[in-house]
Amino acid sequence: GAAVEVDISAIKPGEKLTVEWRGKPVWIVRRTPEQVAALSGRDAELADPLSKRTAFPTPEYAKNEARSIKPEFMVAVGICSHLGCSPSEKFTPGPQPSLPDDWRGGFLCPCHGSTFDLAGRVFKNKPAPDNLEVPPHMYLSDTKIIIG
Ligand code: FES
Repeated sequence: GAAVEVDISAIKPGEKLTVEWRGKPVWIVRRTPEQVAALSGRDAELADPLSKRTAFPTPEYAKNEARSIKPEFMVAVGICSHLGCSPSEKFTPGPQPSLPDDWRGGFLCPCHGSTFDLAGRVFKNKPAPDNLEVPPHMYLSDTKIIIG
């Protein structure tokens, strides 16, 4: 079928694994405790902090701050919700080109400058209309997920 099983045991904290699901890149990021903590306290800067928009409906189990089942793992489609470019990893916090000085880590779309946090939530006043899509997924065990 179209579902994809992924062994996530080899992903190190702070690293991203990309797998293909229905022709789309799905990113699995193993967030560090610092990266999880950095998701809090910025609702006012985000367009849709709790993923209530419906362009890409977020599964109920991911309608939370980390947009995930387990805060440690982000699972999201790596396609910008604006015109479909592939955002770049900008995991390093702090000032850097095209990013705000208080950047805490996330993604930058190179096409028109949309920025996303490390849960794939889009920042306000950016061209991307929605957060990154969270594909349907579940844990088969602590080290294996199934997407689709
Ligand atoms: Fe990503 Fe336009 S395609 S900002």
